[in-house]
Amino acid sequence: MTDIPSQTESALAAIAAADSLDALEAERLETLGKKGWVSLALKTLGGMTPEERSAAAPAIQSARARVAEALDMKKAALEAAALAEQLARETIDLTLPAPAAPRGSVHPVSQVMDELAEIFAELGFAVATGPEIEDDWHNFTALNMDETHPARAMHDTFYFGHNQRNAAGGQMLLRTHTSPVQIRAMIDQGAPIRIIAPGRVYRSDSDATHTPMFHQVEGLVIDKGIHLGHLKWTLETFFKAFFEREDIVLRLRPSYFPFTEPSVEVDVGYSNEGGRRVVGGHGDAPGHAWMEIGGSGMVNARVLEFAGLDPKEWQGFAFGLGIDRIAMLKYGMNDLRAFFDGDPRWLAHYGFSPFDQPTLSAGVGARA
Ligand code: DAH
Repeated sequence: MTDIPSQTESALAAIAAADSLDALEAERLETLGKKGWVSLALKTLGGMTPEERSAAAPAIQSARARVAEALDMKKAALEAAALAEQLARETIDLTLPAPAAPRGSVHPVSQVMDELAEIFAELGFAVATGPEIEDDWHNFTALNMDETHPARAMHDTFYFGHNQRNAAGGQMLLRTHTSPVQIRAMIDQGAPIRIIAPGRVYRSDSDATHTPMFHQVEGLVIDKGIHLGHLKWTLETFFKAFFEREDIVLRLRPSYFPFTEPSVEVDVGYSNEGGRRVVGGHGDAPGHAWMEIGGSGMVNARVLEFAGLDPKEWQGFAFGLGIDRIAMLKYGMNDLRAFFDGDPRWLAHYGFSPFDQPTLSAGVGARA
């Protein structure tokens, strides 16, 4: 039979003398560890008669409590000492200037895409996407531009090599517009449908107002009894919300697109004073001009057929807007090429804080 009280006293002395957390841990294992003497003594209680147990238990329990408490207190003391020592050793020179926090910003194109999604969500539009590497059937044929259609040549298309074809034998290309997403969405979801599809598009073209890659947003509404009035209302409602002014003027010009009938081009009045900006009032006023920002029209019956819908049952309208152009008009930028230069000074000036989340209540274009 071990002498619990004297074992306890020597354990307490060893704990008091421990000068490191490692030494303390060794002492814990020797006492309260699985094979420590306190644990083993506790185990012997199981084999005792009730009388023996009530005689032996209090000494063992109190040994366990005293050792555990001493371990805890010594551990806290050693940790506090280690922290104090570390604080004394490490110094911070508060006279040094604060480092410039590296600060990123949200690109105006991303910001405008978020604004578009927010405004159109309120009008019941979902966001759809499609691949940037497209095949000629989705990009052209299903949009009523067969192989001999002159509009194909007007698109300055980047084609992949002749032998790069998909399983259906389609010629692969970089999509020249977001319109193929109309086809994909109608085939996937059927009608009725209400979507926008923002994204990158590619054309072999470059000057102050054209870059080989740019951004469009496609819109598509297919339902029953849809007419041009719905299209005009939707565009006007969108632009008033987007530019945050009631007095913007849209000009719809009769035009031609193979995938719409009738087709209109959409212009918005702007002024060049102090950077290009959308202005209220008429684009024909002095100092004002019209900027073409997209095309639209009633979806051509042949396009509905290509997408598997019955044109006698379903009608709809579509539009395609240049995101970069409406961003320029909203935020007063002059050169499209600067959008894609990646110049940090331009981004610092025109970029947005990640906290500027567009919301309808705070204003979709509000800068914090
Ligand atoms: N896809 C056309 C382009 O890039 C723009 C366009 C015109 C889209 C009319 C449409 C539309 O949806 O209805 O030039």
